[in-house]
Amino acid sequence: MNDEQNVSRRDLLRGGGMAAALSLTLPPSVARAMLAAQDPKAAAEEAAKAARNATPVRLAWIGSGVQGQNDMKQLVKLPGVEIVAIADIYEPHIEAARKIAGPNCEVFRDYRKLLERKDIQAVGIATPLYLHAPIAIDAMNARKAVYCEKMMAYTVDQAKDMVRTAERTGALLQVGHQRRYSPDYHHALDLVKKGYFGELTHVRAQWNRNGSWRRAVPGNDPKLERLLNWRLYRSYSRGLMAELGSHQIDVTNWFTGLHPTAVVGIGGIDHYKDGREVFDNVQVVFEYPGGLKLCYQSIQTNAYDDFSEQFMGTKGTLIVSEASGRSMMFRESSAEDFEFAKFSQNKQKVGRRTGILLDAGATTRQDKRERTAGTALANSGVSKNNWALALEDWVDCVRTGRKPFCDGRIGLADTVCVIAANEAMERGSRVRLTDEMFKV
Ligand SMILES: NC(=O)c1ccc[n+]([C@@H]2O[C@H](COP(=O)([O-])OP(=O)(O)OC[C@H]3O[C@@H](n4cnc5c(N)ncnc54)[C@H](O)[C@@H]3O)[C@@H](O)[C@H]2O)c1
Repeated sequence: MNDEQNVSRRDLLRGGGMAAALSLTLPPSVARAMLAAQDPKAAAEEAAKAARNATPVRLAWIGSGVQGQNDMKQLVKLPGVEIVAIADIYEPHIEAARKIAGPNCEVFRDYRKLLERKDIQAVGIATPLYLHAPIAIDAMNARKAVYCEKMMAYTVDQAKDMVRTAERTGALLQVGHQRRYSPDYHHALDLVKKGYFGELTHVRAQWNRNGSWRRAVPGNDPKLERLLNWRLYRSYSRGLMAELGSHQIDVTNWFTGLHPTAVVGIGGIDHYKDGREVFDNVQVVFEYPGGLKLCYQSIQTNAYDDFSEQFMGTKGTLIVSEASGRSMMFRESSAEDFEFAKFSQNKQKVGRRTGILLDAGATTRQDKRERTAGTALANSGVSKNNWALALEDWVDCVRTGRKPFCDGRIGLADTVCVIAANEAMERGSRVRLTDEMFKV
């Protein structure tokens, strides 16, 4: 059981132990950057970090497709960071990655050769899902720090092996759930923990898109089909639940400090009958201890509502919607007004209800008793995207030896949930998730 799960759900939702939980739950390098403007101690820590930035870090990246390139673009902006090698097997992606990393970057077709380079301290992995675990385990055994894109692993056993390898070798293992490094999500979590929404009973989340996921294959070369369209085939991919749902299940696990105990669901290949093997629409319900339900859907035929998570409590509702840039809070008519409502300039009518825009800056005066992480975040002027914040914290962990905020055990819990959801849909039955499944 991790630190988050040690705090009971009731404690969390009543706001018990909030201040302590806050300092535990904010990624240190993100927190320092945010607090520095207001707090001399944090400012000193931020200055120390700036000094550390002078220490060069030699990184490599394995899997330089769409996300690998996105991650590398964030990394090359960081002071002292050099991407000295990449490994990939598809020439167009190698060429694109070289442009990002620079001409001195060595290219490998076999990642194991890359891992033999002793000067490489850390390795990022953004290959298709089925390769995450073997590559991460080889990298950790070669004493490299690892950043592994989500979902952490293709199987639960592989995820457990990754955690065991990290713990045995002492290698750093961070998993790419970048929302855990997001100022918006930290602000939202503050408000949930303070109890403004009462006891959370339901979470609704969705990631809706209108598109097939299918990539054009140059020259219709059949040898490239599975390399480029790996997401559509079951030997490489866990489909929508892994590619999109894993982020939002992780947010629910994080916000509740729990993991689910059961899941039911229905999925289908109902629209894109193009030879794919993974569902093109999924609808699942997870049950958490105490009865909280997470109702999740991801569809590929209609993009309305995009992606967001809606936390519904006995006193109000919080919708975190980074896609729309308009996260909102609504009070239940039977509940007292939000403590900070009188200060808020950002009210909007949605249907019959008036909501408050979730804006850490506008709610600075929400609570005189303690500054929230969110207000600090908002006042810091930090405008980096979540991937940049996650990777910056990873590099700082490489420099300091500090444990990552989003570690292998978090990635494992998410993997267990995704695989159980797929099993529930495939079998058409309720799948139980026991505590044992989450243990290493
Ligand atoms: N954190 C996020 O928000 C986010 C967003 C998108 C994707 N992802 C994750 O990133 C990963 C990659 O997704 P993508 O969209 O970039 O896929 P992609 O197909 O664009 O890239 C994968 C790359 O891995 C390479 N590859 C395949 N086999 C390899 C091997 N044996 N050795 C080295 N390289 C190999 C491919 O040639 C390709 O360049 C997935 O796990 C995905 O879930 C995360």
